[in-house]
Amino acid sequence: MREQLENIKIQAEKELVNAQSIQELENIRVRFLGKKGELTSVLRGMGALSPEERPVIGQMANDVRAILEARLDEAARQLASKERQEKLASEVIDISMPGRKRSFGKKHPLTQVIDEIKEIFLGMGYQIAEGPEIELDYYNFEAMNIPKNHPSRDVQDTFYIDDNVVLRTHTSPVQARVMKTQKPPIRVICPGRVYRSDEVDATHSPVFHQIEGLVVDKGVTMGDLVGTLKEFARALLGENTNIRLRPHHFPFTEPSAEVDVSCWGCGGSGCRICKGEGWVEILGAGMVSPKVLRECGINPYEFSGFAFGMGVERIALSRFNIDDMRLLTENDVRFLKQF
Ligand code: PHE
Repeated sequence: MREQLENIKIQAEKELVNAQSIQELENIRVRFLGKKGELTSVLRGMGALSPEERPVIGQMANDVRAILEARLDEAARQLASKERQEKLASEVIDISMPGRKRSFGKKHPLTQVIDEIKEIFLGMGYQIAEGPEIELDYYNFEAMNIPKNHPSRDVQDTFYIDDNVVLRTHTSPVQARVMKTQKPPIRVICPGRVYRSDEVDATHSPVFHQIEGLVVDKGVTMGDLVGTLKEFARALLGENTNIRLRPHHFPFTEPSAEVDVSCWGCGGSGCRICKGEGWVEILGAGMVSPKVLRECGINPYEFSGFAFGMGVERIALSRFNIDDMRLLTENDVRFLKQF
């Protein structure tokens, strides 16, 4: 038995030295010291020993256990520290290396203009509404009182998904969506992307942005529309800005107008921005047609409203003195950094 114990000690120590991982150490512990381990099975044979020998062998077995346990602990400590050293070495950061330069992005000029316009209307108590860009023909045209034979419904002008679904050609369908789901008083603006089947050139793009405005309440008048737009123009373009309304026609407003602002480049005397006119057209507007109100579940005898819609690209181009709309979508940072 003495010999067996001695062998266990030698064998275990030999294996300990070669152990490469904590897991291997654990395996060794189980094999030699575990409940079904070699040391235990030797101790089971103690019954066969003489009473004098028993305490001696018992003592020896305990010593072997104590020594092996100490060795195992020591080996585990060494392995852990070795692993730590290796980890540290592999994670060393070479601080002599130059850092990577991060370039900061900037708000796109269009987004800047949209945000600014939103801010102005939020300040007047408006809320922001949204609608889908892939829109039902019903909301884009029908609910907006645009008859079947209207030129804007031509395939030349509109992208059709199928007979009933189009890429919205303006943000006006959001008017109908809002009126059908909210009760007056309504005061919303609806910024978003719109689509028309246009060839790309310096002033046209098949995708562009509009901001729609809609106010519905008791006793809303054309005077409210003019006052609102004047306030808006002054907030956006400066205190001295004036507006003028020219009679126009939209199927969904009655009466309708095109709205010009006095040129922010020259103040009205004529320059490059206004092409010598002194005025720049920025939006379409009018009193919401009673037909549209009724279609959207609002009683035109009780409520009235005004609506307007402006093209964002137009405003951004003249604002930043950009002469080609295509530059806005070319994604060239050298261009975008300038604004
Ligand atoms: N939807 C019109 C357009 O795209 C603009 C507009 C909106 C006109 C609201 C009047 C009222 O041209």
